Amino acid sequence: MSAAPAAVKPAADGWAIYRRLLKYARPHAGMFFIGVLGAILFAGANAATGWLVKSFLDGAFIQKNPNAAWQVPLEVILLFTLRGIGDYISNYYPSWVGRQVIKGLRHDVFAHYMRLPTAYLDRQQSGHLLSKLTNNIELVAAAATNAAISIISDSLSIVFLLGVLFYFNWRLAAYCILAAPVIAWLMQIANRSFRRYSERIQYSMGDVTRVAKEAIEAHRLIKIFNAEDHQTDRFEQVNEHNRASNMKLIRTKAISNPVVQLIAAVALASVLYVSIKQILGGLKFADFFGFLTTLFMIPSPLRSLVNMSGPLQQGIAAGQSVFELLDEPTEGSGGSRGLTRARGEIEFRGVSFTYDEAKGEVLRDVSFHVSPGETVAIVGRSGSGKTTLVGLLPRFFDVQQGAVLLDGVDVRDYKLSDLRAQISLVSQEVVLFHDTIRNNIAFNALDNSDAAVTEAARAANVMEFVNQQPKGFDTLLTDRGQNFSGGQRQRISIARALLKNAPVLMLDEATAALDNESERRVQQELSLLMRGRTTLVIAHRLSTVEGADRIIVLDGGRIAEMGTHQELLARAGLYAALHGMQFNV
Ligand SMILES: Nc1ncnc2c1ncn2[C@@H]1O[C@H](COP(=O)(O)OP(=O)(O)OP(=O)(O)O)[C@@H](O)[C@H]1O
Ligand SMILES: [Mg+2]
Repeated sequence: MSAAPAAVKPAADGWAIYRRLLKYARPHAGMFFIGVLGAILFAGANAATGWLVKSFLDGAFIQKNPNAAWQVPLEVILLFTLRGIGDYISNYYPSWVGRQVIKGLRHDVFAHYMRLPTAYLDRQQSGHLLSKLTNNIELVAAAATNAAISIISDSLSIVFLLGVLFYFNWRLAAYCILAAPVIAWLMQIANRSFRRYSERIQYSMGDVTRVAKEAIEAHRLIKIFNAEDHQTDRFEQVNEHNRASNMKLIRTKAISNPVVQLIAAVALASVLYVSIKQILGGLKFADFFGFLTTLFMIPSPLRSLVNMSGPLQQGIAAGQSVFELLDEPTEGSGGSRGLTRARGEIEFRGVSFTYDEAKGEVLRDVSFHVSPGETVAIVGRSGSGKTTLVGLLPRFFDVQQGAVLLDGVDVRDYKLSDLRAQISLVSQEVVLFHDTIRNNIAFNALDNSDAAVTEAARAANVMEFVNQQPKGFDTLLTDRGQNFSGGQRQRISIARALLKNAPVLMLDEATAALDNESERRVQQELSLLMRGRTTLVIAHRLSTVEGADRIIVLDGGRIAEMGTHQELLARAGLYAALHGMQFNV
C-alpha cells in the first residue's frame, strides 16, 4: 500500500477541465442563471449598506430630519429582505444544478464502467473505481456549481462594494485597489497547492475504500487467521496517509486566509492614513463613515472567495481523474456482422495469447475444431490456461496471434452483443447479486416466464433447496450469496446460464463445489441440455469429462494431447498420468 502520490499525474490545464465540467451543467443553464440573478441581488443589496449608514448619519445627525426615525429602519428591513431573497436564490438554484451534474456524471461514469474492456478492469483497484463514483464526483459537482456561484456572488459583492467606494471617494478607493495584485498572486500560489494536495487526498480516499472493502468482504478469512490486528494496521496506514494529505490541504487553507487578511489590513492602514489627512482637509463626516462601512464589508466576501478556491481546485483535481476515466477507450461494439443464432461451430486457429509481455505467453499456438453439438472437455494442471482459453470466445480478451472463429467467422467480425448472446458461461468464480433467487437466475432476462425459470432451476438442481426456503424463489441472497452454501450458489449460477439457452455452453469448473451425488444429478441434466449445443467443459475432476466427445489436454498453454477418454488412456501420456493420480491413490 505504498502511499502513492507517484500515481497522481501532473495536473492538466485546470480551465480546460472546468470547461468540460460545465458541459454537464449546460442543459441547466437557465436554473443556474436564476442563481446568478440571485447573486446580483444579494451583492447589490449588500453594497447598499454603506448608503444606509450615510443616510442614517445624514438624517439623524446632520439634518436632524424627524422622518429619519421611520425611514431608516424601513430601509434596513427592505434592504435585508432583498439581501435574504438574493441569498436564498443564489444558494438553492445552483445547488439544484449541482445535484443534476452529480447525477449526470455518475450515470456516465457507471455506464462507462460497464463498457470498459476486461483487461482494463482487471488492472484497476475496485476501491479506486468506487471512490471515483462516490467521492470524486461529489467534489466535481461542488466545484462546477456551488463554488462557481459562490465565486460569482463574492466577486460581484466585491465589485459592487468597490463601485460604492469609488462613488464615495475615488482617491481613497484607489488606495484599496493597490492591494489587489498582491492578493491575486498569493491566491494563485495557494490554488496550485490546493490542487496538488486534493489529488493526493482523492487517491488516498480510494485506498481507504479499497482496504476497507477487501477486509469487510474477507471477514471469515480474517477471523480464522486472527488477522484482525494485521488488517487494522493495514487500514491504519491508508487512514494515516489520508489524514496527513488532508492536513496539508487544511494547513494551506488555514494559512491563506490570514495572509490575505493581513494584506487587506495593510491596505486599510494606508487608506486610513490618507483619509485622516482628507478629514483634516474638510472631508464630510457622513461620507467618510459610509466609505468606511463599505470598506469594512470587503474582507468578508474576500475571505469567502479565498476559501472557495480550495473546493474549486479540489473539484478540478477530481474532475481530471473522472475525465481520465471517461477518456479510457471502451471495448466498442465489435465488428459489423450480425448473428441471430449460431450453429455453434468453434475453431481455434494457431492462437497465441499473452496477458502482459513480461509474463510470457499463456496460450501457445493452440488449434482445434469443435463441430456444432459436440462436447469437448478441456483438462490440464492449474494455471495451464483453460479459463483463459474459454475467455477468448466471448472476447473478454483478444488474441495476439491466430484467430478464434465461431461458425467459420472470426469472432472479431461479429457485433459484440450478438457474439456474446450465443454463449452461456458458468464461470469458475460464482457471481451472484443481492437480489432474489428468481432474479439471480433470470438476471438479464426478467421477462422470462416463471415456468422457464423453474425449468432451469430444476435442471440445475436448485429446486431441492428453493423448496426448503420459506419464501421460495423470492428468498433474498445476501451480499455475494453468503447465506447459501458454495454448492447451492454454484447451482444458481448454472441455472442462470441454462436459462440463457444459448447455442454455445461453457462450463468452467461448474460443478466443482458439488458433492458426488448432486454432481451426478446435475451432470445428467446437463447432458440432456448439451444435446444440440456445443459445449466446452473444464473440469479438474476427470470423472466428469469421461463422456465428452473429445478431451483436450493443455499443458503450459500448449495442447499436449487430444482424443477420447479411451484413446488418451491408451496413449499413456499426460492425461493417463493425471487420471492415474485421481483414481489409483
Ligand atoms: N487476468 C489475468 N491477468 C494476468 N495474468 C493472468 C490473468 N488470468 C490468468 N492469468 C495467468 O494466466 C495463466 C493461465 O491462467 P488460467 O486462469 O487460464 O489457468 P487455468 O488453467 O484456468 O487454471 P485453474 O485450473 O487453476 O483454473 C496463469 O499463469 C495465470 O497466472
Ligand atoms: Mg481456471
